[in-house]
Order: sequence, then structure tokens, then C-alpha cells
Amino acid sequence: MKPIPEIQSNLPGLTALRHEIHRHPELAFEEQRTANHVAEWLTRAGIEVHRGLAGTGVVGVLKAGTSPRSIGLRADMDALPIQEQNPYPHRSVHDGKMHACGHDGHTAMLLGAAEYLAKTRRFDGTVYFIFQPAEETIGGARVMIEEGMLQRFPMEAVYGMHNWPGLPAGQFAIHAGPVMACADQFDIVVRGHGAHAAMPQQGRDPLVAGAALVQALQSIVSRNTDPLDSVVLSITRFHAGDAYNVIPDEARIGGTVRAFRPEVEDVVESAMERVCGGIGAAHEVQVSLDYRRGYPPTVNTPVEAKRCAQVAAQLVGVEQVRTDLNPSMGAEDFAYFLRERPGCYVWIGNGLGEGGCMLHNPHYDFNDGILSLGASYWVRLAETLLSAS
Ligand code: NI
Repeated sequence: MKPIPEIQSNLPGLTALRHEIHRHPELAFEEQRTANHVAEWLTRAGIEVHRGLAGTGVVGVLKAGTSPRSIGLRADMDALPIQEQNPYPHRSVHDGKMHACGHDGHTAMLLGAAEYLAKTRRFDGTVYFIFQPAEETIGGARVMIEEGMLQRFPMEAVYGMHNWPGLPAGQFAIHAGPVMACADQFDIVVRGHGAHAAMPQQGRDPLVAGAALVQALQSIVSRNTDPLDSVVLSITRFHAGDAYNVIPDEARIGGTVRAFRPEVEDVVESAMERVCGGIGAAHEVQVSLDYRRGYPPTVNTPVEAKRCAQVAAQLVGVEQVRTDLNPSMGAEDFAYFLRERPGCYVWIGNGLGEGGCMLHNPHYDFNDGILSLGASYWVRLAETLLSAS
């Protein structure tokens, strides 16, 4: 692994910045302190700063040369509602909040790259540094787009990066197509008729109907979708009743659907409607389905994915760039940018970690050893895509 020497020599500075952000995690759309750090760092580097998109979003604009070409590089800034279990001196000082997804590291890497690019300016065109709020669950990327980010900052393509625990430090994984799934949610209300538990014939039991529904919904993935499409339908909630001798009026069921193609989401949603109606009729209960589209699938465009793989290979060697890993059924709001522009979202290895600590775990921590590699990747990507020669 060969980070840019000047960035590597500033690793202690980037590490201190990462720790500072880690100590003060902020949840979705509350990233005021983090945004202040970002804006100050960019300003100090001589980069034009624009604030206020999606509330706490920050966009830095750096131009060099005369070319009209432009790219966006994006980092996310928000933390998670998790109680940190780590003993480190830089652990979270806020109970119940934690950078358990490494967005502190993503922010530090992009700032490291911005500082270097502002100093060297070995590119021709415009680089937009996008620091977005609320990646976790609320979709800060979508809000930035709705508030006109792509009109104010007209970029030809947009790039993202996420650390990936389990992938060795010094490796990248790049997908020329789907990399993360959609994350749809659904709620189902089963309305029956309550009764004495000893006299079920007088009621319409929503629990038995709900149990049948949970079973029947499992058949959608196996019977209604193409076996070559990856799909998950998980029921994660089932709430009903609170007594031993009362059949309740209603049951509430909820869960999530994951897939890589919008057409598959359409198939699953309409099959769920049909199954809910059929089970309701069979059990003489009313079943209502509220199916909500969440983050769309994150799908890299092949040309941009290939360029990213070439840039990563320059830094770590071609054998350290994995292009054969399966995508994840997790979700990512970078998907909204990729619906609007070509681009690529890559994984950077966070290392194997103690016990293979995965994202969103109270023992997770970003690997400081990869800060300089990630920043170097951003720099080389900008210099390559906006090549001055
Ligand atoms: Ni994340």
C-alpha cells in the first residue's frame, strides 16, 4: 500500500481530526459541530465553502485550470444512536451516540484529500467536496438533491467510499453494478374481532391470521421473483395482545424488503398486496399493507467503476483491488446520487478487526491506519478523472 507520502506524513493530523469527530458524534441533521469543523478545515485550505444544504450539509468547491469538467466526492458525517462500548480515550462523550459506521473516518479522509488538492492543484476542472448529513436511515443525500445541489454544483459524475470491516486494510472492493440493496419497509395491520380466549368462535382471531400471513409472505421470494435476483423479505416485528385469556382485536406486523432492482421491488410489493388480501379473506379479517420505498439500490455505472478500480490499483496494486465480491444486502443513501449522475461507490478495507467487528456494532471503530490511503485514493481519483495533461 502506497499512500501519497505527504498525506502519509500527515497521518497524525488526520488521526487527531478523526478522533475529535469520533468523540463528538451527532445524529442525523444535527451535525452542526462536525459541519463547523469541516467548514473551518476547508476554509483554512483556501477552498470555497457553501453551507446550509439539507441543514447541516457542506459543499467545498475547488477549481483549477480552465476545463469545464467537474466531479463530486462525497463523505457522510452522521453517527448512530448506539452506546459505545470501546475503552479508547477517543470514545464518544455523548451517551447513546456513537460513530459506529466510520463516517468520522470518511469525513477525515475527504478533508485530507481536499487540503492536499488545494495545495497541489494538479488537475484541470472543478472538484466538489460533498459532506452530507443523515446517511443513516433518513436520506440526507435525497434532501440535498431536492434542495438543488446538482443545479448549484453541476457535477458530471459523483463518487463515494465506505470503509468495509472484514476486507483487509490495504484493499479496495469495487463493483461494476449493484453494490448495496434497496431498503423498503412495510407495516401490516390485521384487524379481526376480539373475544374471550375460551370462546374463539365468537371472534375473528388476528393472531392466527397474522401467523398464516408471516408464513405465506415467505413464499414470495421463492415463488414470485426470479431465482437469479437476490431478494430478502424479513418480518422483524409482530405485536398483538397483552393478556392470556383475551383474543385481541388486531395484530401489527412489520419488516423490510431488500433487492437490487426496482422492478423486483414492484413484484414483491404487488405480491404482498395479493397475499395480504387472500389471507385476510381466508381468515375473515381485514388486512391492510403500508409498503414504503426506502433507499433505492446503489448501482455503480461500469465505466466509472473501471476508472475507480484503475486508480485504486495505482495505490495498492491490482491484486489488492477486489472486483469479485458479492454486493451487500445493506443499504446506502449514496444511491440517490447515483440515480442522478454516473459514478461509483467503493469499499475500502477497514481490516479484519478484533472478532471481525462489523459496522453498527458498539465495539466498532474506524481503522486510523487507512486514513492516508483513503485520502490518497480521493486525490488520485480527482487528478486522474480531471487530468491536466
Ligand atoms: Ni455508513
